[in-house]
Amino acid sequence: MSTPSVSLPGGTWTLGDLTVTRFGYGAMQLAGPGVMGPPADHDGALAVLREAAELGITHIDTAGAYGPRVTNRLIREALHPYPGTLRIVTKVGAVRDQQGGWPPARRPEDVRRAVHENLQDLGLETLDVVNLRLGDAQGPRPGSLAEPFEALVELRRQGLIRHLGVSNATAEQVAEAQAIAPIVCVQNMYNLAHRRDDELIDELAGQGIAYVPFFPLGGFTPLQSSALSAVASRLDATPMSVALAWLLRRSPNILLIPGTSSVAHLRENVTGAGLSLSDEDLAELDEIGR
Ligand SMILES: NC(=O)c1ccc[n+]([C@@H]2O[C@H](COP(=O)([O-])OP(=O)(O)OC[C@H]3O[C@@H](n4cnc5c(N)ncnc54)[C@H](OP(=O)(O)O)[C@@H]3O)[C@@H](O)[C@H]2O)c1
Repeated sequence: MSTPSVSLPGGTWTLGDLTVTRFGYGAMQLAGPGVMGPPADHDGALAVLREAAELGITHIDTAGAYGPRVTNRLIREALHPYPGTLRIVTKVGAVRDQQGGWPPARRPEDVRRAVHENLQDLGLETLDVVNLRLGDAQGPRPGSLAEPFEALVELRRQGLIRHLGVSNATAEQVAEAQAIAPIVCVQNMYNLAHRRDDELIDELAGQGIAYVPFFPLGGFTPLQSSALSAVASRLDATPMSVALAWLLRRSPNILLIPGTSSVAHLRENVTGAGLSLSDEDLAELDEIGR
C-alpha cells in the first residue's frame, strides 16, 4: 500500500479503541441496481475500494444485505489481506426479499446467522463494529431492541465482534442499547436537508460516541436546494462538496460514509469535503433543514 497521495479532510475519530479517518466510504452503491446482485462493472467496483484504501481511508461501511452478500465479497476480493489500519463496519437486522425489499431479521437466530455470514464473506475472525439496524425503509420505528441487541452482546462476549452500534434508531432505542452495553456509534439518516437528529448528535458528541449519517448526499434522491446551489456556486464548488464539508463542520463526532461507484466521484468527494466554509456560508446552509 503506497503512502496516501492526499490528506483526508476531518482528521480521525476513535470508535472505542479503533481509530478511523472521519472521511470514510460507504460501500452500498457497489452492488447492482437497487442494491441487488453483482455490479455491472466488477473491476470498476474493485477499483473504487482499492482507491479508497490508497487515499488513506480507514473506515468502510457495509452490510451483508447489500447484494445480498455481494458488497462484502467485493471488499474481501479487493482488499484482503486488509491493511492493519482498515476498519470495516457492518450491520445486521435486515435481509432482502425477492422484490428487493429490506424485511427485518431481528430474531436472535437471524442476528447470529448474519454475523457469521459477515465474518465468512469478509474473511475475518472478528468484526470491528456491528450496527443493529432497526426500523424499516421509512425510518426508525419505536419498540424494544433488547432481544436482538442482547444476541449481539453475547456474540461480542464470544470474541466475534469488537464494538457495537445501532442504526435507523430512535433516541429512546439508543438509550435502551446503552443501558444494555456500550455502543461506539449511531448510524442514522441525516444530511443538510434532513436534520431530525440534531439534538441526538449533540448528545452523542458529549458522550464521545460517533454519529455516522447515512445518505449524506441524499442517497437515492440527490440533495437539491437553491440555497445549497447558491453557496456552492459562490465558492466555485459542487453542491456535493458543500454538503460533505458542512457535515464535517457540523460536529466533531460526525463520520462521513458517502457512497459512490466511481473512482472519479470518490476523489472529488475527498477533495470537496476539505472545502472551507465561512460563518456566512454556514448560516445560509443552516436554513435549509429548518
Ligand atoms: N444504516 C442504514 O440503514 C443505511 C441506509 C442507507 C445507506 N447506508 C450506508 O450509507 C452509505 C451512504 O449512503 P448512500 O451511498 O446510499 O447515499 P449517499 O452517499 O448520500 O449518495 C450516494 C449517491 O451519490 C452519488 N454521488 C456520490 N458522489 C458524487 C459526486 N461527487 N458527484 C455526483 N454524484 C455523486 C452516487 O452516485 P455514483 O455512484 O454515480 O457516484 C450515489 O448515487 C451507504 O454506502 C451505506 O454504507 C446505511
